[in-house]
Amino acid sequence: VIENVKAREVFDSRGNPTVEVDVILSDATLGRAQVPSGASTGDREAVELRDGGDRLQGKGVLKAVNNVNTEIKDALVGLSPFDQEKIDHIMIDLDGTANKGRLGANAILGVSMAVSRAAAASKKEPLYRYLGSVDLELPQPFFNVINGGVHADSGIDVQEFLITPVKRASFRDGVEKIANIYHTLKGILAKKGLETAVGDEGGFAPKLGSTEAAIETLYEAIKAAGYMPKEEIAIALDPASSEFYNEDTHKYNFEGKEMSSGEMLTYYQELVAKYPAIISIEDGFSEHDWDGFKKQTDTMGANIQLVGDDIFVTNPTIFKEGIDKGVANAILIKLNQIGTVSESIAAIKLARQNGYNTMISHRSGETGDTYIADFAVAMNAGQIKTGSMARSERVEKYNQFLRIEEELEGYAKLAHFPRK
Ligand code: PGA
Ligand code: ZN
Repeated sequence: VIENVKAREVFDSRGNPTVEVDVILSDATLGRAQVPSGASTGDREAVELRDGGDRLQGKGVLKAVNNVNTEIKDALVGLSPFDQEKIDHIMIDLDGTANKGRLGANAILGVSMAVSRAAAASKKEPLYRYLGSVDLELPQPFFNVINGGVHADSGIDVQEFLITPVKRASFRDGVEKIANIYHTLKGILAKKGLETAVGDEGGFAPKLGSTEAAIETLYEAIKAAGYMPKEEIAIALDPASSEFYNEDTHKYNFEGKEMSSGEMLTYYQELVAKYPAIISIEDGFSEHDWDGFKKQTDTMGANIQLVGDDIFVTNPTIFKEGIDKGVANAILIKLNQIGTVSESIAAIKLARQNGYNTMISHRSGETGDTYIADFAVAMNAGQIKTGSMARSERVEKYNQFLRIEEELEGYAKLAHFPRK
């Protein structure tokens, strides 16, 4: 049974405070988890409880920590760690709000993750095995090698330029290909006299001036490293367009122009026609422009993966609305957008039942915790994005897949895109 639940304030990859939780069982097993934090957050995400005031720019999480160490602990001590859904629902009920704003989604998620870790450890199983089934699949990884938007001061409006090894013999083979491209890209940028320092997710943040210039540079790097764009290495974009959408004028302020929803759609259509290596676009339309997202799905959805992030915020109820309206054909899964492991699993199940792809995701503010790697394998999620080949809080997730691949040698399957 759960004997103790203890949280503390630690720091994330941007130097901001975050919650770490230890769950200790009566058999002395420890489960520990750390909670990540986004920058381009969706308006309807579960609430990350911050202290406010003067300390640490108001970003302290001592209230969330205290909620774990008092109310949540009192509710969970003595319970079995093996019923994840029950534990999560006790916390949801205890919080009592629709958005986990009273106790804090950061408090609740930290406990939710740590409980599953403790349970797995107690059963002497790796987390991916405990959370998953016997039929395990390593996801297709998407590496964010050029950072823009609010993740870097590169001046590019599109937040993420990702590359993915569509052809690979193993997870390791895919990682090696991307490592080669990453270093080649660095050399190309340096030669052009551009910045090679990295942004929040470990991708480069060069002042390339436009989305097309960034994509051209990716093509150049893929080819220079010896691979074929599209056939071997594909490209995905996350414009995170809610960040440049004006809710009053209903216009997108994109690359120095005011664009209507219809003009953005034409832009994307022309972009994928010009650059056929693009296979996936996330949040091409704002979370406040469901109509635009729907039109993109109707016109482009048959050929391109369209991922809903800010628009669905991993919330099964909101996602269900999107499914009913025919918005997007894939969902990004971020555990801290909804705040429990069980509800994240519910969103994934809903996606599967309705033919939507799933991509597990890190946040731009990350920690050393590699939970999402195990989670992606356990869920057979098919896809993951967790940054570039730099910054250990990103690379460690990819390293965890290498360990899992080694453990599962001969058993794990490789997920391939597009998912049939
Ligand atoms: P965030 O960015 O973690 O800053 O929200 C990730 C994303 O938009 O996919
Ligand atoms: Zn996104």
